[in-house]
Amino acid sequence: MGFGSNRGRLAAAVALFCITAAAHAAQGEAARGDPARGQKKFYTCLGCHGVENYKNAYPSYRVPKLRHQHAAYLIAALNEYKNGERPHATMHAQAASMTDQDMLDIATYLQGGEPTKPTSSVAGVTPKQAETCAACHGINGSGVDAPLEPKPPVLAGQHADYLEQALISYRNGRRKNAVMGAMAAALKSDADVQQLAAYFASQPSPLATARHDQK
Ligand code: HEC
Ligand code: HEC
Repeated sequence: MGFGSNRGRLAAAVALFCITAAAHAAQGEAARGDPARGQKKFYTCLGCHGVENYKNAYPSYRVPKLRHQHAAYLIAALNEYKNGERPHATMHAQAASMTDQDMLDIATYLQGGEPTKPTSSVAGVTPKQAETCAACHGINGSGVDAPLEPKPPVLAGQHADYLEQALISYRNGRRKNAVMGAMAAALKSDADVQQLAAYFASQPSPLATARHDQK
C-alpha cells in the first residue's frame, strides 16, 4: 500500500535508507587509507578525471569532478561499478581489478583531508523541488551535518550535464540505487531534471577536477 503514489515511494525510500544506516553502523571501524599511495594509484585515472571538462562520448556528458568528493561515497561508487549496479564499461574495467585497499587509498587522496563541510550559502533561486533533496544533500548540495550512511555525494559544483545524466540513469533504472531510484522517479519531466542539475551545479563548492600535482 501507498507505493503507487510518489509520496508513498519517497517515504518507503527514506525508511529503507534508515534501515541501511543501522546495518552499516553495526560493522564498526574501517581500515585506513594512505593518500600518498592513493595519488600514485590515481595516475591511470588522470587521462579522463585530470582533464578539465573532459567528456564521455555516447552519451556525451562531462566526466565527474572527484577532488574533495566524500571518500565514503567514492568507495561506494567504485564498488557499484565493480559489481555492476552502475553500468559503465570503462569504469567497470577500472574498478574490476581494484582491491578494497586500492579504493580506500584513492578515495582518501581525492577527498584530501577532512570531508567537505556543509554550508548554507545559496547562489540564485532554489527550485521548489530541491527542498526534497535537502534532507540528504543540503539545500545547496553541499551536504548535511547528520552522519548519513550511505554517504550522499556532494552535488554542489558538479558538472550539470553529469548530474543530469545521473538522474536520468536512476530514473530509467540503469543505475541501481533504492533511495535515488525513488527520488528520480518522483521528478516528472526532463525539464525538472535539467533544472535541478543546473541549480546544484551552480552552487558554491570545493569540488574540482583532480590534478596530478595535488597532494
Ligand atoms: C576513459 C576515461 C576514464 C578513466 C580512465 C577513468 N574514469 Fe572514472 N569515470 C569516467 C566516466 C565517464 C564516469 C561517469 C560514468 C557514469 O556515468 O557512471 C566516471 C565516474 C567515476 C566515478 C564516480 C563519480 C561520481 O560522482 O559518482 C569515480 C569514483 C571514478 N570515476 C573514479 C575513477 C578512478 C579511481 C579511475 C582510475 C583508477 C578512473 N575513474 C578512471 C571516465 C573515466
Ligand atoms: C534520503 C536521502 C536522499 C535524498 C532525499 C536525495 N538523495 Fe540524491 N543521493 C543519495 C545517496 C545515498 C546517493 C548515492 C547513491 C549511489 O551510490 O548511487 C545520492 C546520489 C545522487 C546523485 C548522483 C551524484 C553523483 O556524483 O553521481 C544525484 C545527481 C542526486 N543524488 C541528486 C538528488 C536530487 C536532485 C534529489 C532531490 C530530488 C536527491 N538526490 C535526493 C541520497 C539522497
